[in-house]
Amino acid sequence: MKDIGTKEKNKSKKIPLIRPYIDKEELEAVRKVFESGYLAKGPTAKIFEKEFSEYLGIKHASAVTSCTTALHLALVCLGIGLGDEVIVPDFTYPATGHVVFHVGAKPILVDIDLKTFNLDPSKLEAAITENTKSIIVVHLFGYPADMSPILEIAQKYDLSIIEDAACAIGTLYKGKKAGTFGDIGCFSFHARKLLTTGEGGMLVTDNEEYAKISHSMKDFGIRVISDKIYFTHPGFNYRLSDVLAAIGRVQLIKIDKILEKRKNLAKVYTELLSDLEGVKPPYIEPHITHTYQSYVVLLDENFGMKRDEVIASMAEKGIESQIGTYALHQQPCYKRLNFNPKNLINSAKAYQNSLTLPMFHHMALDQIEFVVNTLKDIQKNR
Ligand SMILES: Cc1ncc(COP(=O)(O)O)c(C=O)c1O
Repeated sequence: MKDIGTKEKNKSKKIPLIRPYIDKEELEAVRKVFESGYLAKGPTAKIFEKEFSEYLGIKHASAVTSCTTALHLALVCLGIGLGDEVIVPDFTYPATGHVVFHVGAKPILVDIDLKTFNLDPSKLEAAITENTKSIIVVHLFGYPADMSPILEIAQKYDLSIIEDAACAIGTLYKGKKAGTFGDIGCFSFHARKLLTTGEGGMLVTDNEEYAKISHSMKDFGIRVISDKIYFTHPGFNYRLSDVLAAIGRVQLIKIDKILEKRKNLAKVYTELLSDLEGVKPPYIEPHITHTYQSYVVLLDENFGMKRDEVIASMAEKGIESQIGTYALHQQPCYKRLNFNPKNLINSAKAYQNSLTLPMFHHMALDQIEFVVNTLKDIQKNR
């Protein structure tokens, strides 16, 4: 099979999980920032913020060092603190829950829908108490959370919504972009994300007050009043440097191409996997657009082998694969919250049986074929 995109010929059988799509244009943009002398706080991050907000169709964007710092700032903007509870899906990268501890609040872990790997809205109401202030909704792996019922419940109980859109640039739910449904959306530009600056993130909102707080708190708590700098709050240094923002600007120009390629690669994977017993490819519904930030399948008992053994066997053949992500209630720093594992069964299953297969922009079709054939061989020879 031929490459469907670039000319990369990968004859070696080493297949990495990801390979960032960065080339000459990004290097050139960084060179210009070097020449400008503004390596930290300069004009480029501001321009990137404007372009990113235009891409999403949202009023404000605030460029930060990561999605984790964006999520932390989001909680600060919403005034969440000691004694408050914040609902978090149990199956997510732990940063989603960690930030709740950072503001002194308590994460309340809720189970997921195993089909989508996202928060199960039917389990939400049972988790709400008089202390609940907010829901952090995750659009995991680029698949949108089921926003309609979540928004309805949030409205009914007067709860704010933070979207963890770390994996979800370009993800659509009923035609609307992930990150623009809630009070605040948070994106990641980590090297595994579809738009990358190596490390980086963005907080987005339509709310002017939240935007002001975010801009100030990411910059030491500075407010400029009558051209004078005042430190009105003890803020952080969460600013994205101009060097990284320059990379982000170039990546944003390429994002549609990146997303299109991703969809094509996923289609090939899903077709080739269709006759492999015990492997569920990513779920799709007509009203959503999955961007496959990670191509994650779910193994069941029919596969006949444990997921971790599959990862080890693939590694022996030169293929890097990985777990989907983590069940928070099983991590040591969440155990002290004593959540009942019986209420988090789907998350536990996803943590144990999800498998991320390699996918990157320059992946050739014969590389996908090799991954799927290797899975088939591993199953046959188990
Ligand atoms: C769902 C989710 N939230 C948050 C994060 C943290 O993002 P960052 O590395 O930009 O802090 C990640 C990172 O993988 C993630 O997958």
